[in-house]
Amino acid sequence: MLKDQALQEEWLVACRSQDVQEAPIQVILMGERLAIFRNSKGVHAFKDLCIHRGAALSLGEVKNDCLVCPYHGWEYEDKGDCVKIPQLPEGKSIPKKAKATTYSCVEKYGLIWVNLAGNEPEFFKYPEMESDEWRNVIWGPQEAEALPPRIVENFLDVGHLAVVHQGYLGEESHREIEPYKMNEAEGRMYSDEIRIFQPDADGTGVAKYVYYTYEIVRPLTVRFTKRDAENDTLMTILLTVRPMSETHSVAYGILSFNYDTGQSDEEIIAFQDLIFAQDKPIVENQKPEELPLDLQVELSLISDRVSIAYRQYLKKCGVVLGTA
Ligand code: FES
Ligand code: CO
Repeated sequence: MLKDQALQEEWLVACRSQDVQEAPIQVILMGERLAIFRNSKGVHAFKDLCIHRGAALSLGEVKNDCLVCPYHGWEYEDKGDCVKIPQLPEGKSIPKKAKATTYSCVEKYGLIWVNLAGNEPEFFKYPEMESDEWRNVIWGPQEAEALPPRIVENFLDVGHLAVVHQGYLGEESHREIEPYKMNEAEGRMYSDEIRIFQPDADGTGVAKYVYYTYEIVRPLTVRFTKRDAENDTLMTILLTVRPMSETHSVAYGILSFNYDTGQSDEEIIAFQDLIFAQDKPIVENQKPEELPLDLQVELSLISDRVSIAYRQYLKKCGVVLGTA
């Protein structure tokens, strides 16, 4: 398992709810192989390792609410205790040590979250998904060969919109970013509204200014709100990233709208995939760790304030993975 204690103590996204149906699945989180399965009581995460001969439990099946090993059929109930060993002679009891390693696991906001350290911190709130007034679309998984902070920082980066996403989220003629501040209040860390010129802000083909706000929610979970001042509509995106291994991350999002976009879920997802595909070569080849620290600070612009606040936040949380 990757050693970052601060991240192990977080709720980290493992997969989408819809990924866990009747069969168990394997998910790699912080370098650890997990078997995630669903039974009548909910969703559970085990270390993907049978205590008998080390087979991957994720290749097994769920039977009578138990996870059954694919190799010799040992059956584990959801707390991890082995309750059946088919080969055991009659009258012999199951050894106490026949147990699967379990991790804290919850299903919330259309995603499955795992807390590796078992401290079960309080869960953040995403009110858009607790209200009937919003339409929510789950986006991802999208994998990148980059550490999670690269993907999060890129999402928080205002200056790249009119360059990398020119024609989609910005225009070459409007690259300037007006000064804004980061705010900290009641435990929240969020930006002022930032005015961004968009070529086609609401899908009608009309260019106009919209207002972006960014908020740092957790080390690998951030959100963004786009406000259209003309018709007073809001779109929010909750981005959360699964740290997979030393080299890979997987991004997931919840896209929320308080208005009718006139698009299908598939169209909304396809647009987000396109934006991610534009960012991917940038984050996969970016090496901020090779820059001298003083220059990293000195050459930052006002438009980099959200990204800088994010770096400081990670430091405060004690996250080390990918922050060098
Ligand atoms: Fe799992 Fe033997 S390895 S039952
Ligand atoms: Co981007």
